[in-house]
Amino acid sequence: MTIAIGCDHAGVELKKEIISLLHDLRIECIDYGTDGPKSVDYPDFGEKVSGAVSSGKMEKGILICGTGIGMSIVANKFPGVRASLCNELFTAKMSRLHNDANILVLGGRIVGRDLAKEIVKTWVTTPFEGERHCKRLEKITLIEDRLKKHGL
Ligand code: RB5
Repeated sequence: MTIAIGCDHAGVELKKEIISLLHDLRIECIDYGTDGPKSVDYPDFGEKVSGAVSSGKMEKGILICGTGIGMSIVANKFPGVRASLCNELFTAKMSRLHNDANILVLGGRIVGRDLAKEIVKTWVTTPFEGERHCKRLEKITLIEDRLKKHGL
């Protein structure tokens, strides 16, 4: 699995920790920026990672901003993206088991470094449960298709 990772200025420090964790876990990741403390706009970096996942170029992504809210809003605009904001372990696990989330979003100003690393570990190692959840994901795809074709 290769993970696309990106953040705004509020997520840079946490992103470094997560990249090092993924390296230890032998999971390849591609860093889409931003790289420094200079203020940037989260949609620009959310778009890069979400586009890579939506197009199928990357299987999964991780996005970090201050609260995780802005990145979640951006990511879930992209067809096929199921982004989940998980600042604790239970939702990290459930977002994989039930929702087959393909982008994990973290709030860099909300969650501490050690908890964030546990969240990432849980998220990357938990499989999708399938079964009854498949038809629900299919319904999400149908909504996307319908909106694309006919609008509201
Ligand atoms: C940046 O100050 C902040 O607004 C951003 O990181 C994020 O929290 C937006 O949702």
